[in-house]
Amino acid sequence: MLKRSSSCSEGPAPADVVITRANDSGFGLPPAAWASTNPLNSKTDSRTPAIMITDDVRLGTNVLIHHPQLVNLYGCTIGDDTKVGAFVEIQKGAAIGDRCKVSSHTFICEGVTVEDGVFIGHGVVFTNDMYPKAVTPQGHLQDESDWEVLPTQVKEQASIGSNATILCGLTIGRGALVGAGAVVTKDVPDYAIVAGVPARIVGDVRDKHGNA
Ligand SMILES: CC(C)(COP(=O)(O)OP(=O)(O)OC[C@H]1O[C@@H](n2cnc3c(N)ncnc32)[C@H](O)[C@@H]1OP(=O)(O)O)[C@@H](O)C(=O)NCCC(=O)NCCS
Repeated sequence: MLKRSSSCSEGPAPADVVITRANDSGFGLPPAAWASTNPLNSKTDSRTPAIMITDDVRLGTNVLIHHPQLVNLYGCTIGDDTKVGAFVEIQKGAAIGDRCKVSSHTFICEGVTVEDGVFIGHGVVFTNDMYPKAVTPQGHLQDESDWEVLPTQVKEQASIGSNATILCGLTIGRGALVGAGAVVTKDVPDYAIVAGVPARIVGDVRDKHGNA
């Protein structure tokens, strides 16, 4: 199924296609099978790279991925009707709910759970390790056994502005709004607007026009 769309949050008005897939199981075809149905992916032109959505990605129905060759999705779950922009990476163990928008250039790491109806702006960066290091004290490259993933939760209908950085082990409350460029270092209460570095509460979404 091919669709067109245009919106600030969904990348440039595409001349190319948005691909959706669905089947009766609710989570659709394995991505490899899906990729083989994508006419763009069948090109042999070296300028058309392979789709980087691994087989273990659980995609809901009608997930819209605007440029499937330009995302890096592995081991994650993406819910029904969610839209994913270009240059988004979503790591294994991350879960995105239904009807979310994940705008281009965003990084969602392991340990992040995004509930339904969440808006994530462009270039948002999540983290999962508060004291990251490349190597062990012995100087060997760290592997997964050398650090503990600190989970982060983004509650229903929250919005995260472009270029925000979300430190780990946090909860962003229901309906909350994180301002563009904020560095979130503490939990954000439900419906709070936070902005700045470090992010501070600057308002309440419910007081804003159209959100009553
Ligand atoms: C945080 C935000 C919601 C505030 O909106 P608002 O309540 O209408 O705020 P105002 O524009 O009236 O600004 C109020 C003050 O906060 C400051 N401010 C606004 N946004 C800010 C931000 N992101 N970071 C730091 N300060 C900010 C303003 O400079 C102003 O400061 P002043 O009182 O010293 O002049 C909004 O600016 C924002 O960042 N929205 C997210 C936009 C975005 O990323 N969209 C992504 C999709 S395109």
